Amino acid sequence: MAILKIARMGHPLLSAPAATVADPGAPEIRVLLADMLETLADVGGIGLAAPQVHQPLRMVIFHIPAARAAAERYRDSGLGEDDAEVPLTVLINPEIEPLGEETAEAFESCLSLPGMTGRVPRFTRIRYTGVSHLGEVIERQAEGFHARVVQHECDHLDGILYPQRITDLSQFGFTEEMKRRREPDTLEPEEGDI
Ligand code: NI
Repeated sequence: MAILKIARMGHPLLSAPAATVADPGAPEIRVLLADMLETLADVGGIGLAAPQVHQPLRMVIFHIPAARAAAERYRDSGLGEDDAEVPLTVLINPEIEPLGEETAEAFESCLSLPGMTGRVPRFTRIRYTGVSHLGEVIERQAEGFHARVVQHECDHLDGILYPQRITDLSQFGFTEEMKRRREPDTLEPEEGDI
């Protein structure tokens, strides 16, 4: 296992569509997965996509730890969003389908844009499918932060970084500065890169 170098915005791999994984059970995919898991644990992130570690393949990993789910529950209280802990998930060749037109905005950050954050609109509810490295079919419905994380990670597979989704660029900047200027009743930039 190895901790991998994470590509930063501007690297051509991050703006290129990734290729379908032909054999999710292949030995080289298991090695890549093990390295991605170790890399994500090392940086303490929420999710990681293979192109971020210089592998142009349609594979993402993510999880929502209990502490983060609790923070989202507090922040989104009253919105009825799904805020449950999500176990570490390996998603190969994922597909996303929005469930309805509703979108919501919240701050995101990304391991490929260290120190920055921006407020991004995402579909509130989605269905996503894919397979695991064990060949298991994964099909889930997700809401709120869970849906946001999956949309963010899968965007990486299409060469899209979150700033490209921002509709108001005044809501994009260095995390340190954005926290300093925030209003008490607005969504706050959170720690934890997705
Ligand atoms: Ni990211």
